This record gives sequence, structure tokens and C-alpha cells, in this order.
Amino acid sequence: MTRNAGTGGRRDWSRSVIYQVYPRSFSDSNGDGIGDLRGLTSRLDYLSALGVDIVWICPVYASPNRDNGYDISDYRAIHPDFGTMADFDAMLAAMHARGMRLMMDLVVNHTSDAHAWFEAAKSSRDDPHHDFYIWADAAQGCAPNNWEAAFGGSAWTWNAATREYYLHLFSHHQPDLNWDNPRVRAEVYALMRFWLDKGVDGFRMDVVTLIAKPRDASGRLPDAPRTRAGDLQPAFDLVSNCPRLLDYLGEMKREVLDHYDVVTVGEAPGISPERARLLTDARHGPLDMLFQFDHVDIDTQPGRSKWHLRAFSVDALRDSLSHWQAALADHGWNSLYFNNHDQPRAVSRFGDDVRWRDRSAKMLGLLLHGMKGTPFVYQGEELGMRNAQFSDIRQCRDVESLNFYHDAIERQGWNVQQALHAIRAKGRDNARTPMRWNCAANAGFSAGVPWMEVPPDDPDVNAETEMADPDSVFHFYRRLIALRRTCLALVEGRYELLLPDHPDVFAYARRHAGADLLVLCNMCGREVAFAWSAPAVVLLANTDRTRLPDQGDLVLEPYEAVLAVQVREPVERAAAA
Ligand code: GLC
Ligand code: CA
Repeated sequence: MTRNAGTGGRRDWSRSVIYQVYPRSFSDSNGDGIGDLRGLTSRLDYLSALGVDIVWICPVYASPNRDNGYDISDYRAIHPDFGTMADFDAMLAAMHARGMRLMMDLVVNHTSDAHAWFEAAKSSRDDPHHDFYIWADAAQGCAPNNWEAAFGGSAWTWNAATREYYLHLFSHHQPDLNWDNPRVRAEVYALMRFWLDKGVDGFRMDVVTLIAKPRDASGRLPDAPRTRAGDLQPAFDLVSNCPRLLDYLGEMKREVLDHYDVVTVGEAPGISPERARLLTDARHGPLDMLFQFDHVDIDTQPGRSKWHLRAFSVDALRDSLSHWQAALADHGWNSLYFNNHDQPRAVSRFGDDVRWRDRSAKMLGLLLHGMKGTPFVYQGEELGMRNAQFSDIRQCRDVESLNFYHDAIERQGWNVQQALHAIRAKGRDNARTPMRWNCAANAGFSAGVPWMEVPPDDPDVNAETEMADPDSVFHFYRRLIALRRTCLALVEGRYELLLPDHPDVFAYARRHAGADLLVLCNMCGREVAFAWSAPAVVLLANTDRTRLPDQGDLVLEPYEAVLAVQVREPVERAAAA
């Protein structure tokens, strides 16, 4: 393994930006309306031009697609929608030929209910696979505890053949695996080795902090604390903090990860910073980084499901991100993300996607990429793609939105407009509309009928147009990605909050021997002015600013974002490419 001295003992990925592809919506090579591996392979030059060198792809395994591939029925097979194993091998070779690494999605908290293990497990209590899943008897005729599934309803479903319930933290088509069973763990390690031996370079581990389930003294899975009646209670906080998680991930590290040169990121709903530090400590932690959720919950009413909206404030975002920067400052490592396939588009959420789409998209990019950690870019983010304007539930595909819509209207007294409003703001389908490649039909995504509509507006938001425009969001992201390679302060510098009480400006420094970087982001659509006395040279801005004043008032334009270097001693060369 190549340890890189300049990055605090971390390997060379710490200077990389990771690009996430949602294959179903990326590029369709055969006109069936579904993005596929050949389509993805044909776009690798685009990713090279952007400058990313690690690509994470969402699941492409065999799956009934109840949750778009996060319900896997065969961990060693490619779903025919995406192509063949030969297509996969060709894609991996093409990535490696370009010096790119591939991260696969590892979904092992649960399988599909169509997986052969579950088919066998549910047939009889005596089946050898029965103990691959989590079962419990009814409690006085009811579900074994109060846990609710993330996609609605109880987390327990009755299985008539064995007269007991099985656990599923997501939909009832996604039964949870029993990680207390050593045979389950051995199967998971074997399938990880299968992909690593093919040359895969790492894993993004789906809800991996939920794999170990807490049990009380009598071996029962305990009730979760109730919040408010009628709200989801997926018990994520309770489960994410189960002590045995550390044992299982430690074992995975010894059995598998230590034997390969891999980069890993674990999805970690409900994780505390203390635990995240333990898990990602470069000295002995099992994982490289985690996706925490605090900052993407700030526009949700506390303790309620994501559909209960609340306006976001700069203050809440600053508190949340700064808290994580501080918590993992010396040990542990942050992932940095606003967008992924589960989140609405950040430019619509924290920017202004109507008047200031271009500028606020760049501002959010700089705000995030300026921090310490590994930035993730989700397909289309680098173009400033925004939320779809769903006006009819038939435009949506996601199990989470569909379940919510029907439940909200049929059981919780919401009307159609209220439910659609929440889906427009928070629905995962916003992230899953097809990638925009050019001005052709379906934005160049497919020659057929796309599995999800391409929103008709924004014809100029596309890869071809933006690559030809040096001022585009694309080129701004390209510069951000290049800077991380050349500017050590961006990788290593100590995070220090500036203007901690400003209502609209999110500003911080990255202190490093030789150079201090300053990041100033106006997060509102008005000019803001404040006193300033730190002369600095601008490295990158989303306006034509080149300097910060020595003395006096600094006026930032609406959504202006500036990365500047305050020179104290001779600095390493940190110019944008
Ligand atoms: C993760 C995935 C999400 C999926 C869920 C269940 O949160 O990112 O897309 O629905 O896990 O696997
Ligand atoms: Ca296709």
C-alpha cells in the first residue's frame, strides 16, 4: 500500500474527488431507455476531462428492482438491464487504462426477498439458511417491537410458512441479514473478494452502520424511543450505535480489506461523531470515511420524517458541517457531499435554482470542496442540474416517494398538492432524472423512451454546452477538482470558522504552513457587506473578482463564492489548472 506522507498517513485517494454514477440514469447505449455499462464506458473521457479518478457506481447486480438495485438477488451477477459481466470487465479495464479506480456499491445489510438465501430461509425454521435472516415470534399477536421501516409501515412482516416475523429496516422486499451468524459474514467476505479479485478498487457500503442489531438481556430487539405519533421510527440511531458493529467491521478489515489496496466509504445514518472517528481513524479504523446525515437533515423538522419540511438556515448548515470538521480534525476523515441518488439537488435546496442557478451551484461546490475531507460529486451536480418539477405522482418512480404519497393521502390526511410539494422538495427522484449530455432529444441520454422523463426545461444545462463554455459550472468543478491535487492546504489545512454569526455568509479558513486559504460564500440572493482586513489573492471565484481588499468593507455579490490565499511565506504553487 502506498502511504502518502503529505496527507497525514492517508493513501493517495485523499487528494482525489469521487464521482458517483447512478447507472440507470447515466447513459443508455442500446435505446431501451435504461442507462447501462456500455453507456457508462462510452462516457469515461468525459469523466477524465472533469478530472475525477475514482468512480462509485450504484448497484448493477441482479435485482427485482423494488428499490432500484438496492435489493440484490445475486451478488455475483450483472442485471441484464445494465449488460453482461463481459461489459463490466470491459468497463473496469477502460477505467484502469485511464488511471481511474472503481468503487462498487456493497449492499449487505439486507438482500432482496428474491435472493436464493431468503427463498430457502422462509420455507422452514429448519432450513440451513433460516438463520441468515432475523426472525422473531409475535408479541401478543403483534409485531415483535415498534421499529418502523424506512419506506413506511412496520419493520416486521409476517411469514406464514414459519409462523413468525422477519425484520426489514427498508421495504418488506429487503429482509435484513443476520450478521450475528458467522456463515453470513463469511458469505459477505467471499463476495467482496470476488469483486476485489476482479480488480475493483473499493466499496461504498450501503447503510453499513445498521448491520449489527442491538439486543436486550433476553435477546430481544428493544423498542426504539418514540418521537411523535404518526412519524416514522426507523430506529436508525439505536441500531447505528450497536457495539457489535465495531467487531464485525474489524473482522471485515482483517479478513478482506487489509489484503487489498482499497478505498471505502460507509453509509452511516444516525452515526455520532465520536463513533465516526473510531471507525475512520487511519491508525486502526476499519473504514476510510463515512457518509453522515446531519447536514442533509437540517431542512427537516426535528424528530419527524423527511417529508416534514422546514426552511434551511445558513446557521444550521454552518453548525452542522463545522461540528463534523472539528470532530474529525485530527483523527478520522470526513466525506463531503451535498448530492447523491437519495438527496434532492443541492442547487434547488440550498441555492436559488431560478435566478442564480449557475452562480449558486458554483458557490455550493466551492463551499463543500474547500473543506477537509473527500468531496463527492454526484452526476449532473457538475452541470448545475436542478430538481425536477414533478406535477403528477406518475412522473415518480421511487418506492420511498410512492409509499409516502399513498400513505400520506390515504392515512395521514395530506392532500395531493401537499404530498407533491414535499416530493418536489425532498423526493429521491429529483436526483434520478437522466443525465443531460447535449441539446438532442432526451438530452442525449437515450435514443428510446427514458425510464424516467427528462425534465423539458434547462436545455442549456448539459455536458456538451458546458464543456464549450469556460465559465460554466462544469469548468468551475474541473478547477476545484484540479486544485485538490495541487494545493496541499486544501487537503491538510486546519479548518477554522470565520464570521461565525453572519446570517448569510458561510466563511472559513484552512490554515496550513506557508499558506492560509480563505473560503467566503454568500448564501443569499442579495449583496452583503462586512468589515474585512485580510488582503488575499483570489484562486477561484464564481465572479470576476481577483483580490480581497486590504482594509475596509468587503461587498460580496449575490451567491458570490471566493477561494483566496493569504500569503504569509512563500507558498507552494496553488494555481487552478
Ligand atoms: C441506502 C441507499 C438507498 C437505499 C437504502 C436501502 O440509503 O443509498 O438508495 O434505498 O440504502 O438499501
Ligand atoms: Ca440500455
